[in-house]
Amino acid sequence: MNCYRKVTDDLYWVGGNDRRLALFENIHPLYHGVSYNAYVLLDEKTVLFDTADWAVGRQFIENVKAVLNGRPLDYLVIHHVEPDHAASLEEILLRWPDVQMIMTPKAAAFLRNFGYEIGKDNVREVKEGDTASFGRHSVTFITAAMVHWPEVMMTYDTTNSVLFSADAFGSFRSLDGKLFADEFDFDGEWIDDARRYYANIVGKYGQQVQAVLKKAAKIDIKYICPLHGPVWRKDLGYIVGKHQLWSTYTPEEKGVMIVYASMYGNTENTAELLAAKLAEKGVTNTRLYDVSSTHVSYLISDVFKYSHLVLASVTYNLGVFPPMHDFLADMKALNVQNRTCAIIENGSWAIQSGKLIKEALSGMKNMTIIHDDVSVTVTSGCSERNAADVEALADAIAADLSK
Ligand code: FEO
Repeated sequence: MNCYRKVTDDLYWVGGNDRRLALFENIHPLYHGVSYNAYVLLDEKTVLFDTADWAVGRQFIENVKAVLNGRPLDYLVIHHVEPDHAASLEEILLRWPDVQMIMTPKAAAFLRNFGYEIGKDNVREVKEGDTASFGRHSVTFITAAMVHWPEVMMTYDTTNSVLFSADAFGSFRSLDGKLFADEFDFDGEWIDDARRYYANIVGKYGQQVQAVLKKAAKIDIKYICPLHGPVWRKDLGYIVGKHQLWSTYTPEEKGVMIVYASMYGNTENTAELLAAKLAEKGVTNTRLYDVSSTHVSYLISDVFKYSHLVLASVTYNLGVFPPMHDFLADMKALNVQNRTCAIIENGSWAIQSGKLIKEALSGMKNMTIIHDDVSVTVTSGCSERNAADVEALADAIAADLSK
């Protein structure tokens, strides 16, 4: 049975929800599912904006057919060819072979590389500022390279101020019958999934997201229709503001994220002691993570959230403990910057982890190390002297947070 939702009088959400996928992009765990959004506009011409992942292909096709209600499909606008959106393209072409496709030249090239047999006559390649009219609705195409692939574009419907934003403003999590962000407790229930999506999928491309936000600031937007997650029709400033912070690598909150790598609990004990000392000093906006038991996508998400980051690691094979090493590599890959950091190291002999963490942080932009290069050096177990060093570190962090 079809299961679609109305967005405006003549615009419909025709996507689907996937609660079976364990790993988004085969890397990021999904505990609350994900939606693949596509939209149909019924004007003098009919327009489909994007297709959907193969996983929801049957539902998607049923939805498109139901909304078209016997009308032919005239246009297919493709904003992004990553297979979570373009995988059902051939299902569309099989049913509506005369559909005219609109996309960037790169999108056409990428689709052909993926093996889609799209011709030249039924593809209109568009560039920044090109327009189209479907009857009552006129649209302008906005290129958005690297948000999050090079071929990405957005479409702005000038008639009703709808922005089809591709992956931008998207989120993990299935929609569960709802569609609009104002139908959820977004700030309470969704924001962590939205941040984890942004940080891990688009986080590397802050500069490119900034370029798009600058373009968006010049147009009147009443609806944001992304390819994942809810549609925005109220309080757009909230989600735009979050993206402004994330894309400039500005912390959302003054707070402390402590990530520890511990083999037998001694580095963990030192990290716990720091969290307790911070709480005693009134610093309670803190999170403590075991790097070995927390998927790195969650760590990356919280690095985008908090202002202060404490990294505590045991030395392993004269290096940083491997999961901490991976976390640091991911931070660099995703362009994490502008954080205030502190380092705790441990080892039973030839302690190296502090020095190596400092080197890794120095390879990222504007990562300030406070207190000392290495604030606490634990030799196997946290000693009385170490406890005094932890207290001094807590003082330094509390003082820095109060600035
Ligand atoms: Fe949701 Fe970049 O694909």
